[in-house]
Amino acid sequence: MRFWTSKPPAAISALLVALTALSAASVYFLWHYSVGIERSAAFQFHIYDILFWGALFAWAQFAEVKLLAYASFSHLFIFVLAAIIIFPPWVVPLLIFLFYINPSIFNLTKEDFSYTWYKDFFNRLQSLLAAAGAAFVFTFIYNNIPIYISDVNITQMVAIILASIANFIINISLVSLAVHISTRMPIKDIWFHNFGWIVFSYMLMTPVSLLLARLYNANPPLLGNWGGWAVILFLIPLYYARFHWDEVVKLREAFNKTVDLLSNTIDAKDSHTFLHSERVTAIASALARAYGLDAAQVNTIEKGSRIHDIGKIGIPDAVLFKPGSLTEEEYNIIKKHPEYGVRLLEPASEYLSETFDIIKYHHERWDGRGYPEGLAGQEIPLWARIVGLADAYEAMTAGRPYQKAKTPEDALREIEDLAGIQFDPKLVRLFREIWETNPAWRDREVFLRLYSSKVPSLESSSPPSLEREPETSQKSS
Ligand SMILES: [Fe+2]
Repeated sequence: MRFWTSKPPAAISALLVALTALSAASVYFLWHYSVGIERSAAFQFHIYDILFWGALFAWAQFAEVKLLAYASFSHLFIFVLAAIIIFPPWVVPLLIFLFYINPSIFNLTKEDFSYTWYKDFFNRLQSLLAAAGAAFVFTFIYNNIPIYISDVNITQMVAIILASIANFIINISLVSLAVHISTRMPIKDIWFHNFGWIVFSYMLMTPVSLLLARLYNANPPLLGNWGGWAVILFLIPLYYARFHWDEVVKLREAFNKTVDLLSNTIDAKDSHTFLHSERVTAIASALARAYGLDAAQVNTIEKGSRIHDIGKIGIPDAVLFKPGSLTEEEYNIIKKHPEYGVRLLEPASEYLSETFDIIKYHHERWDGRGYPEGLAGQEIPLWARIVGLADAYEAMTAGRPYQKAKTPEDALREIEDLAGIQFDPKLVRLFREIWETNPAWRDREVFLRLYSSKVPSLESSSPPSLEREPETSQKSS
């Protein structure tokens, strides 16, 4: 069975050994640290408390909330932080280690039993260390730094917010490190990709942890004879709201998938453009981030890149796939695809209108000799300039029936020669910088390999599970 026999790569093994040692040391340290703290004397917990919070941890991971843009959001951290308030600091790291559940385990069938033990183990260690860091931050602040606003003691609130930040940072740092080791992608890119806007919703949810802990610890209990009843009662509406949210997300996803399907039909028609849109998307997204655009803009650029050539559906195959050079008349037909694209998507403008500039202007040139409108320089919308450059590089390295694929070095040289002629010079400069640092992105072969054989990304709980896992493409060439 692959589950037991699969062996981690050497670098991952070394990482696992180091993290195991670190985990053991941190739990031991926390145990020592909590002994002698006055607060620990107040901790009277029972095996039922442990089982109840362990079950909540497991449930939170199972009932993760899907977000738009490939992300999912687990409520696990809310329970982890609440438990940090309730239990001595060494308990929660062990609890999360034991009660970690990888939701993907429920999707496994006998034929596809590819769940690997070391990913699971990594995720457990990662969650343990993040919880240990948070528990230390909380305990340290709570016991040493009393914080007041006029007469109100807000120590616990501040301590749990800082603990939440520690938990978040340790989580994404460890995941970024593991993804870096397995894919060689620059660690900084992965870190910021994970970081994103989610950090704010993460912080906003932190007070809920405090509320849960207070409900649980209320003396006398708010409901019946045990604090757990109040916690359960509080969670029911939360869970109910999740169902509604799931439906909204599913609807959006179905729409996005339909659009992807349309773009796949273009890629699938031609073996030379296999995964073309996907690679243009990866390049454009990296460029956009390097340019300093925010997450929402990067998202739109990714969406637009995926469908930038959708208008080619309206171009006859005889022209689109003609081996050899085109007549002027044929070229004029090809030149219509940006406008066809926008017209085709017009009925869905409510969801897609922001991508229209990309679709319409991705063949404009910096010197004004592009199409369809012959815009020049800054007149060309920035997003279209970005996608246009990514598109050109991808086409050069993919080749055409009548043109051999260029090596990444030759393609880069051509792009640089065309700075200020076809491309925005500033973007070309950024392009060169990223080109030098990321092989997955520079080299088409590496990219296709990564995409076609699942990327060895490590799924994780809570925010780092935002790490988007490139899907295995089923497109035929
Ligand atoms: Fe195009």
